Amino acid sequence: MKVLVTGGAGYIGSHTTVELIGAGHEVVIVDNLVNADMTCVEGACRICGADIPFEQADCCDAGAMDALFEKYRFDAVIHFAALKAVGESVSKPLEYYRNNLDSLMTVLETMRRHGTPNIVFSSSCTVYGQADRLPVTEQTPRREGSSPYGKSKQMCENILSDTIAAYGDLTAIALRYFNPIGAHPSALIGELPRGTPNNLLPFITQTAAGIREQLSIFGDDYDTPDGTNLRDYIDVVDLAQAHVAALERMFGGRSSEPFEVFNVGTGRAVSVLELVRRFEIVNGVKLNYRIVGRRAGDIVAVWADTARANRELGWTAQRSLDDTLASAWRWEKAVRGM
Ligand code: NAD
Ligand code: WQD
Repeated sequence: MKVLVTGGAGYIGSHTTVELIGAGHEVVIVDNLVNADMTCVEGACRICGADIPFEQADCCDAGAMDALFEKYRFDAVIHFAALKAVGESVSKPLEYYRNNLDSLMTVLETMRRHGTPNIVFSSSCTVYGQADRLPVTEQTPRREGSSPYGKSKQMCENILSDTIAAYGDLTAIALRYFNPIGAHPSALIGELPRGTPNNLLPFITQTAAGIREQLSIFGDDYDTPDGTNLRDYIDVVDLAQAHVAALERMFGGRSSEPFEVFNVGTGRAVSVLELVRRFEIVNGVKLNYRIVGRRAGDIVAVWADTARANRELGWTAQRSLDDTLASAWRWEKAVRGM
């Protein structure tokens, strides 16, 4: 099938492109390079031994999207394109709402005009906020988002749900990712944060590489076994494969509803300190870290109940945390020429 991957020059989109091509699908990437360069597109081409078509365009540009759909005639879209920095979204809410909502609506309108029926959307565990009961299932009530970024993901889920209910010509799956980490085992693609990383693992790898002096661990006085936050860290290749499974469910007409939602995580809660210590052991490096105060807006704990994805998508996270942490370090060293 022919699949448009929006935001395919980015972290998760590039890994998904590789898995889609490996599963026999044709991919076209569209990205405006607002948060990426061509490194991961080139890396994906090398991994696949293929010249993957790349179009530089903004998904909010209806004219550009029309031209793209006219040129290629897609069977499906995987919509990754979004701005994703939680802190930045607080200071630039209009940019975040404009980009994340407009890009989705423009893509949906273009799909309808061109008769492209299937879309997979990048949602996030952020829609749950701090849940009362853990692990979270897809039925766990969503909590009001604590940032414009989080709210944009909730709004996008609502836009999808309303659109699909109204028109009857689209099928969608929203995947709620937990915390994606790691890199392709080839070390040809991975996460390339611009400036100071916001997320934990890129900060760890940059500290290990000597680019950051010290890792700050945000609080060890939470009500958790070692006092640090608990998250569900999922290998990016496992996450990429969940997209292939979701698409194939739609292509095979196996969706039980025209709009479905799945948690994509491992089902395992890992603390910040546990992640840091495993990273040190697996990679044989010593991390300079210290405990500092809590980070505003952090939730204490979240991890996924993955039963629905396991059962309905026939997908389960396969990679061990150790292998994932090794892949992240391999990628950081490759990027730094170490
Ligand atoms: P990323 O920034 O690496 O990739 C997103 C890509 O989209 C970038 O290459 C960027 O240039 C592009 N883009 C943004 N706006 C665009 C637009 N209007 N038109 C065309 N291209 C545009 O981010 P990622 O980590 O790969 O995340 C992919 C998706 O997954 C995002 O929707 C993100 O919100 C979601 N998500 C990410 C995480 C995470 O922790 N990485 C967790 C949950 C959900
Ligand atoms: C993980 C843990 C930090 C950095 C964010 C978004 C969420 C989703 C995933 C997109 C937390 C701790 C971190 C550091 C630290 N993205 N930490 N020192 O906050 O779970 O989720 O990314 O949808 O929406 O909010 O991920 O990687 O920032 O933090 O101690 O330098 O690491 O406090 O406990 P988070 P993260």
